[in-house]
Amino acid sequence: MLFRMWEKPVDCGHAGVTLTDGHWVVHGHNLIRTVLADLVTFRPDNALDAVTPISAAALRLLADHGFRLPATLANNGTSSHEALRALVTQELQPARIAQHRGWLTGILRRRLIPLTRSLRAGRRADLHAAISHDLPLAILARVMALPDDIARGVKEFSAAALELFWAPLDAARQNQLAELVGTYHAQLRRFVRTARPTMFPLRERAFAQGFSEDEVTAALFFLLIAGQETTSQFLTLLMHRLMSETTILNGLIDGSISATEVVEEGLRLESPVVTWRRVTTREVQLGGTLLPPGASVLLWLAHAGRDDAVVAQPEEFMPGQPGSRRHLAFGAGAHRCAGAQLARMEACVVVTEVAPLLRRCTVIQPPWCPDNLSFRAPNALMVQLFR
Ligand code: HEM
Repeated sequence: MLFRMWEKPVDCGHAGVTLTDGHWVVHGHNLIRTVLADLVTFRPDNALDAVTPISAAALRLLADHGFRLPATLANNGTSSHEALRALVTQELQPARIAQHRGWLTGILRRRLIPLTRSLRAGRRADLHAAISHDLPLAILARVMALPDDIARGVKEFSAAALELFWAPLDAARQNQLAELVGTYHAQLRRFVRTARPTMFPLRERAFAQGFSEDEVTAALFFLLIAGQETTSQFLTLLMHRLMSETTILNGLIDGSISATEVVEEGLRLESPVVTWRRVTTREVQLGGTLLPPGASVLLWLAHAGRDDAVVAQPEEFMPGQPGSRRHLAFGAGAHRCAGAQLARMEACVVVTEVAPLLRRCTVIQPPWCPDNLSFRAPNALMVQLFR
């Protein structure tokens, strides 16, 4: 059940803590916010721990590739977090993100021409493959000034990493994934060691501040997953949802509904990051439940957006309804998502440009999501034009 939290019916009135399969699941907006705000009692150190313990054989495979994952961004409860985060957020300032909006719009429009032509010819299309799969990576590579050979391997590696760290696995699959992730990690390390200063400027600034090769490699490793898998998944989930929201599509097309508000409501209802973890440093009372020290606290972020204490119509897709922006899709506090503005910009461009096509399409095959503790990871969105 924990691996398919997005399928669980949400009891909106319920806030509290339940122990399920070794994780203390936290429900309710206020309780989740309380945890996110208290980094002394609820540390982020376990955020990237493998949910299926890594076997000795898989550990050996990773070690053979020199894989190490020290405290980096999301899992960093140490004093280095603030400086490392500042280095990353410098790359992701709103003014810098805005510079890429026109480029993204152009590339999307160029993709929509052959896609529309093919649909008009009666063929089916996979909107995940055609639009969401690689666009977030393309823009991330531009924003971070990453070279093509590094960007090329990211999609295979990041899908493998989401499975290796967050999915239930058997031994054979775990070894296979460890080999994939280890190989790409070794490539990243070589890049961090040898990149010219003009490539990946974050590296120069990190080294100048005394960060080690391990730390910079780990930060890049995390960014390449967090900075594109999440948005890629969100775009597919949002397009799918909008296909059943004709009034919203009409409003987007005639300009009476703002894309920004559609994206916020999408984040509230269709967040790709369903849960996120913290670990307790001491015994603590939370929502009437006593948690032991070292407890894995599983924050049901997707539930927070559907809490009727936050919005009056939790299950309705109503852009601009009061409370719509109070979701916790990006977490909160010192570790809140550093790429939220980039993700929002990408989603705004996509819903604006794709709305006319979505209105004319019907779903042939909805996205299917594999078992995963935290990520939706939809596989495809097959559509065809209405006849
Ligand atoms: C819809 C897209 C996205 C969603 C739903 C999402 C969600 C999240 C969540 C839930 C966290 C953990 C927050 C916490 O612990 O309080 C997080 C952290 C993070 N995200 Fe995102 N994210 C998205 C897109 C992005 C993008 C595009 C980037 C970068 C380009 C990015 C970079 C990061 C980083 C660096 C962190 C760690 C921040 C820290 O620990 O200081 N994310 N994200």
